Amino acid sequence: MNELDFLVDLNLNADRQGPGGVKETLRALSLIDLDVTQNIKIADIGCGSGAQAVDLALNTNAQITAVDIFPQFLDKLEQKANDLQLSERITVQCESMDKLSFDKNSLDVIWSEGAVYIMGFRNGVQYWHNYLKPGGYIAVSEITWTSKERPAEIENYWQNAYPEIATASEKIKVLEEIGYKPVGFFTLPEHCWMDNYYLPLQKEMAAFLEKYQGNDIAKKVVEDNIDEIELYKKYKEYYTYGFYVAKKI
Ligand SMILES: C[S@@+](CC[C@H](N)C(=O)[O-])C[C@H]1O[C@@H](n2cnc3c(N)ncnc32)[C@H](O)[C@@H]1O
Repeated sequence: MNELDFLVDLNLNADRQGPGGVKETLRALSLIDLDVTQNIKIADIGCGSGAQAVDLALNTNAQITAVDIFPQFLDKLEQKANDLQLSERITVQCESMDKLSFDKNSLDVIWSEGAVYIMGFRNGVQYWHNYLKPGGYIAVSEITWTSKERPAEIENYWQNAYPEIATASEKIKVLEEIGYKPVGFFTLPEHCWMDNYYLPLQKEMAAFLEKYQGNDIAKKVVEDNIDEIELYKKYKEYYTYGFYVAKKI
C-alpha cells in the first residue's frame, strides 16, 4: 500500500472526506436556477463515499452519476444508496475526473466538493465546461484565502501543498475567463471543518494506527493529518473552503 491507499483507508468510514455540510450543499443547490423537480442530469465528481450525492438525491428528482477513482468509496456509496432506496437515481462511475466518459454538452449540473484541487481549479473547471449543456451549472468548493495577507507559516504550508490557493475574487475571475457567469459564492463555516470532517477523522485514528501497527507510512499519514488539523485551528481566520456556483454561458 502506498500513502494514498492509507489515506483512503483512514477516510473510508467517515460520512464525508472533506469539509462541508448538508445545509451548505443545499445552499449551493438553491443558487441553481433549474427545475430540480425534473429528472435533470447531475454529475458529482470526486464524490468520495457520497455525502453530497445522497443529499442531492434526497432534495431533487435528478439522475445523479457519482464519479470517483477509488472503488472503495463507490462501494460505500452504493450501499448507502441501496439502504435509502435511492439506487435508481444514483449511479456510480469509477473513472478519473480528467478522463470523463460523459458525452460533451450532456450534463445539467456538475457538482464537486473539495475535489477540483486534484486537477487544479483552472484545469478542472475548464475541462468540465465541455461536459455541461449550455446554460448548465457548475457548483464547486475549493480552498480559498479569506484575507489579503497571511502569516508566513500558513502561507508557506498552502503554497507548498496547493499553489493554486487564492482569494475568492481570483477564483471568480478564472470562472469568468473560461466562459462561466458566476451566480453565487459563500464560504464554509467552521463547523463544516471541525464537527463534520476533522473530529470524525480524528476518531478513526486510534483504530487505524492499531490496524497498521508498526507501519511507518500509516503513521506518517496520521501525523500529516494531525498537523493539518492543528494548522486549521491556529489559522482558520485566514482560509476556508469557498463554494462557487456558476452558469455555462
Ligand atoms: C477531499 S475528497 C472529497 C470527497 C467528497 N466530495 C466529500 O466532500 O466528502 C476528494 C475525493 O476525490 C477523489 N479523487 C482523487 N483523485 C481523483 C481522480 N483523479 N478522479 C476522480 N476522483 C478522484 C478521492 O478519492 C476523494 O473521494
